[in-house]
Amino acid sequence: MRGELSEHFAMVVEELGAPLVKVPLRPRPLMPGHVRITVEVAGCNFFDSLLMQGRYQLRPNLPFSPGGEVAGVIARTGRGSEYEVGQRVLAVLPFGGFSSQVDVADERVFLLPDGVSAESAVALGTQAQSAHLGLFHRGMLRAGEKVLVHAAAGGTGLCAVQLARAVGAEVYGTASKSEKQELAVSHGCRRCFSSRDESWPKLTKEIAPEGFDLIFDPVGGDLYRESTRLLAWGGRLIVVGFASGDIPSEAMNRVMLKNISLVGLHYGPYFERGPQYLQAAHSDLMRWVQDGDLTPLIGRRYRLEQANEAVETIRSRSSVGKVVMHVGV
Ligand SMILES: NC(=O)c1ccc[n+]([C@@H]2O[C@H](COP(=O)([O-])OP(=O)(O)OC[C@H]3O[C@@H](n4cnc5c(N)ncnc54)[C@H](OP(=O)(O)O)[C@@H]3O)[C@@H](O)[C@H]2O)c1
Repeated sequence: MRGELSEHFAMVVEELGAPLVKVPLRPRPLMPGHVRITVEVAGCNFFDSLLMQGRYQLRPNLPFSPGGEVAGVIARTGRGSEYEVGQRVLAVLPFGGFSSQVDVADERVFLLPDGVSAESAVALGTQAQSAHLGLFHRGMLRAGEKVLVHAAAGGTGLCAVQLARAVGAEVYGTASKSEKQELAVSHGCRRCFSSRDESWPKLTKEIAPEGFDLIFDPVGGDLYRESTRLLAWGGRLIVVGFASGDIPSEAMNRVMLKNISLVGLHYGPYFERGPQYLQAAHSDLMRWVQDGDLTPLIGRRYRLEQANEAVETIRSRSSVGKVVMHVGV
């Protein structure tokens, strides 16, 4: 294990909009209730690119390291921490994860069971936990229900497809390109409709004449507007995000007429408001990975020193699946 502090480094933003710079980590005290993790793998997400440009809701003081997910081994524990040195863990952070060593509060730490690699844990990360909370905690999804997942080959969407299928739901999806539709089908969608073909809503009538029980929507815009038409009586529309950039506000008449529920999901606040739901979600996710019901999809692998290339891969939308960065390889 890399123990010496002098060996540790972070990729940091010194100036908004400029490339990340490699800097050595300085000695610092470990806070009570925190653990120090020697990072093996860090995840790269779209919001990292926004953070680096100062275009995200969170604006840390300069210099800072972006990065919301790391996995590795606990090197030290702070006073009162419930964890032990040597445990393999995933941690979810607001930022600071593009680093070979990370200090993180206990409630942001998730133990990794045997058979689940650091890379798999990071690849699932916040997207799989969000999909889990959206479908089960917020959406109350049950076996046998008909589910439609928008952006079914996106990070969160592909996790939602696999999780819904793991509990015995009948899963359908939408995606823009044929390769994405095929990917969603290969991960459990019975059929994935082209969201670029205007006739897709009509085509769903063949498989769900009464409508869908639950629609999982990370996209918003026109897909949201169609979704309110396509829900069954009493159906639930899980509002996850607005990847289209279009935050919809209409169709409230259908909410009333069809007795449907618009259900919001906001993952981040669960660390304060309901960490037990996150730990429960993590347990299910790890079990499903071990059982082969959930397959993390790696898009590209980099070394942490190549963080600028990793971020550019995300920014240019040139890969499907998670972009991960390994430390010390
Ligand atoms: N509420 C929460 O707590 C929470 C948690 C996780 C994610 N989110 C949000 O959910 C959304 C999806 O996140 P993700 O991690 O799954 O992202 P992702 O892996 O980048 O997938 C987003 C998908 O959205 C679709 N899309 C449609 N219009 C797009 C556009 N203009 N630009 C980019 N993508 C577009 C794309 O699928 P097609 O090509 O098939 O259209 C893409 O695959 C984001 O808005 C994110 O902020 C929210």
